[in-house]
Amino acid sequence: MSGPGERRPSRLPGFLWKKRDRGPKTLYCEQFPLSELAQKFGTPLYVYSASMVMQRVRLFDRAFGRVPHTICYAVKANSNLTLLRMLAREGCGFDVVSGGELERVRMASPAAVKRTVFSGVGKTREEIETALRAGILLFNVESEEELNLLAACAARRRKTVRIGLRVNPEVSAPTHAYISTGLRKHKFGIPIEQARQLYPRAAASRYLDVAGVSVHIGSQITDLAPFGVALRRVAALVRELRSQGHNIRYVDAGGGLGIDYQKASPLGFADYVARYAKRILQPLRGLQVHLLLEPGRVLVGPAGVLLTAVLYVKDNEGKRFTIVDAAMNDLLRPALYGAYHEIVPVVAKSAALRTMDVVGPVCESGDFLARDRKMEDVATRDVLAVLDAGAYGTVLASNYNTRPRPTEVLVRGNRVTIIRRRERIADLVRGEGFNH
Ligand code: LLP
Repeated sequence: MSGPGERRPSRLPGFLWKKRDRGPKTLYCEQFPLSELAQKFGTPLYVYSASMVMQRVRLFDRAFGRVPHTICYAVKANSNLTLLRMLAREGCGFDVVSGGELERVRMASPAAVKRTVFSGVGKTREEIETALRAGILLFNVESEEELNLLAACAARRRKTVRIGLRVNPEVSAPTHAYISTGLRKHKFGIPIEQARQLYPRAAASRYLDVAGVSVHIGSQITDLAPFGVALRRVAALVRELRSQGHNIRYVDAGGGLGIDYQKASPLGFADYVARYAKRILQPLRGLQVHLLLEPGRVLVGPAGVLLTAVLYVKDNEGKRFTIVDAAMNDLLRPALYGAYHEIVPVVAKSAALRTMDVVGPVCESGDFLARDRKMEDVATRDVLAVLDAGAYGTVLASNYNTRPRPTEVLVRGNRVTIIRRRERIADLVRGEGFNH
C-alpha cells in the first residue's frame, strides 16, 4: 500500500506515512496523525498543511526568479482568509473574479489589494466601481461592452485605471470540457483578431491605461505544450501593440497548471514547475514585461485532504458500497467532473484490495467520492483521507440536504488551528423565516 508521502518523489513537507510505536503505518499531516485530528475535530474535516503550501509557493516563485513577476494566487481555488493572509505575507498578489473575492483579499491583507487583478466575463457595475475605488493592479477585460462600462466608470471618477484585454488564443488544452477556456466556443476572453481592433479604441479613452495582455487557457492542464503556444500568440500581440505605440508592461499568463491526482508522474514538483516556467518564459524572452501568474490548484491542491469516517458498508448483490459521512456537498469534484481523488485509510490496514464505490449520505446517485475503486478494504468507523482536496474542495461546498459545511484546520509543524468552524444548522437557516 502506498500513500501520498511514499509515491511523491519530491520531499515536500506535508503528508507523510510514519510508523507509530511499531504499530501500523499512519498518515500524518506534518506532526499530527490524521486519525487524531479526526477524533479531535470530528469528520468530515478539511486538513491543510501550511508548510506544504509555503514550499510550493516558494518553488513556484523560484522557477520564475529570473524575470520580474508577481504570483497572483487564484482566490477561487481556496479562499480561506487565513490562507490568503499567509500568501499575502509571502508577497503574493491575487486573482479575483468577484466583488466577494476582492473583499476577502481586503480583509486578509489591505496592502495586497494593489497586487490584485480582476478577471471574469460578468463583472457588474457595482463590482467595477468597488475595484476602481480599491485601486487594484489590473482589470482583465473580457468584452467590448465591459470595456465601455469600465471607461465610463473611470471617467466619472476621473481615475485612471490599468487594463489588459484577456485574449482568447484559440489554443486547445486537453482537460475536462467544463474547465477548458482557450477556444472561441468558450465564453472567455476576446478573440485575438477582435482584440487587435479593441486596443486602439481602449487607448483613445482618457482614463484607461492600456497596460497589459492576459490569457488563461483552462484548468488542470498537465500537458505543458499548450501554455507555450498561447504565450507565443500573446508575445506576438505584445510586439504588434508596442509597435503601434501602446505601452504594454504586463503579460498575465493566467493559471491552469494541473496536479497529479492519479499519482502517476515521476517528476518532482520543482522540476515540474521549472518546465512550466520554461514554456511561459521562452516566448517572452526579450520583451521585458512584468509577468503576472494566476496559479490556484497547483499551490494548494495537494496541500489539503478531506477526512471522512465510514458510517456503513453494504453489499448490494455483489456491489460493495462504503458509505461515508462526507458527500458531494463537501467535495463536489467527483460528482461534477467525474474527477479522480485518491482515497486511503489514514491508518494502513494491509487488508486485501477490494473494488467499491465510496459514497456519501446525500440522496442522489451522483453522490460519490469514488466509483468502482480498487482500494484497501475498509470497515465501519475507519477514517479515510480523500487526497488532493485543497483546491476546489471547500469553495465548491454547499448546504445541499441541509448539511453544514465541515470544519477546516491548518497544520503548521506541531500547531493546529481551526481556520473555519463547522457550520451549525442555525447558520444555514439565517435569513429565512416566516415573516419575510
Ligand atoms: N485564472 C483564471 C482567469 C481562471 O479562470 C482560473 C480558474 C485560474 C486562474 C486558476 O486556475 P488553476 O491554476 O487553479 O487551474 N472547479 C474546477 C476548476 C475551475 C477553474 C476555473 N478557473 C475544478 O475543480 O477542477
